[in-house]
This record gives sequence, structure tokens and C-alpha cells, in this order.
Amino acid sequence: MGYQWLIFPIALLFAATAESSHCATDGVPIVRNISAIEEDSYGVPGLSHITIAGSVMHGFKEVEVWLQTIAPGAGTPIHRHSCEEIFVVLKGSGTLNLAYTSHLKYPGTPQEFRIFANSTFHIPVNDVHQVLNTNEHEDMQILVVISRPPVKVYIYDDWFMPHTAAKLKFPFLWDEKCYQELPVKDEL
Ligand SMILES: *[C@@H]1O[C@H](CO)[C@@H](O)[C@H](O)[C@H]1NC(C)=O
Ligand SMILES: *[C@@H]1O[C@H](CO)[C@@H](O)[C@H](O)[C@H]1NC(C)=O
Repeated sequence: MGYQWLIFPIALLFAATAESSHCATDGVPIVRNISAIEEDSYGVPGLSHITIAGSVMHGFKEVEVWLQTIAPGAGTPIHRHSCEEIFVVLKGSGTLNLAYTSHLKYPGTPQEFRIFANSTFHIPVNDVHQVLNTNEHEDMQILVVISRPPVKVYIYDDWFMPHTAAKLKFPFLWDEKCYQELPVKDEL
């Protein structure tokens, strides 16, 4: 722990200025070269994020796929969301902190899991978690799949903040630009 200072205040500050991605309102090509898709830190130190398949960005309705590279010492804020989330670690290693306590008043001390290249893990709906690159020698690269996009993220300052005090960040950093541009349609 001790990582929570790293990211969020700064992220929120710079998010509005992040000149970002292309909003593909009229569909995406069937095959795309990931190396040619725009990546951005969205103002978050140590993050490189690519929305491979997005809801507000590309019009996908039921799942969203991200590719993220996290520098040594960086990671996500402590947060929760009401969707399924599955990770595949492509490179590097780190730590998952997870509190199985969405039924209590606050997350409490999380359980720590070591995550490593070619490992996969999932986050139960609404459980509070944080993914960190705790390997000081290499970047960690993860492929992330979420259901029910666009994601609504509730952010905690620490593990003892009550669930009711967590702050909603919506639209989330990489959804902001396209969210302003297109009304989200309901039908498939
Ligand atoms: C994919 O994009 C990268 C970077 O633009 C390029 O170097 C590479 O040749 C592309 N691959 C194919 C198969 O087009
Ligand atoms: C990941 O595991 C699968 C199944 O054993 C294996 O085929 C693959 O080569 C592994 N990949 C890496 C990068 O280790």
C-alpha cells in the first residue's frame, strides 16, 4: 500500500485537457492494427491506455476491452464498479489488492494477490480493488474486459473510506471526449 497518492487528483486535473481519441461514431473496421490505435495516459502518471473496443468510443453495447501498460510503481486508484471485469496479464507482474466486502460499510484491509505474466484474474461485481505494478524492473501490460459499459467508477481515498463516500467519476477518463460528442443509444 502507500500507492494511493500517486494518481487520482492529478488525473482528474488533467483529464479535461487530454486531447484524445478518435470517436468512431459510424462504426469501426473489422480488423484493426493495435499498434496504430491511439494510446494516451489521460493525464495519469505511469499509465498508457488503449481502448481496443469501447462503448462510447466505438459503439459496442455489452463489453469493452482495454489494453493498458502500467509503469513500475504506478497503478489504479482504489475503486469499484458495478460490472464484471476480467484481466489477462500479458507482461510483467504486480499486485492485486481486493476487498470482498461490498456488504460492509467500508472495504477494510484488502487481500493481496500476486499477479504475473500469463495469469488471469477477475473482480467480483462491486468489490473494491486496486491493480499495481509492484515490480520495479518492468512495465506491466494487461488486457482488461468489462461488461455493462460505459464504466461508472467509484473512487476511494483509502481502504477505510465508507462505500457511501466513494466519489463517482463518470464519464471515466477515456470516455470523456466521446461521451460529450455522442448521445449513447440503447438498442443493440
Ligand atoms: C501496424 O502498425 C504499426 C505501427 O504503425 C506498423 O509498424 C505495422 O507495420 C502495422 N502492421 C501491419 C500488419 O500493418
Ligand atoms: C500462457 O499459457 C498458455 C497455456 O499454457 C501457453 O500456451 C502460452 O504459451 C503461455 N504464454 C506465455 C506468454 O507464457
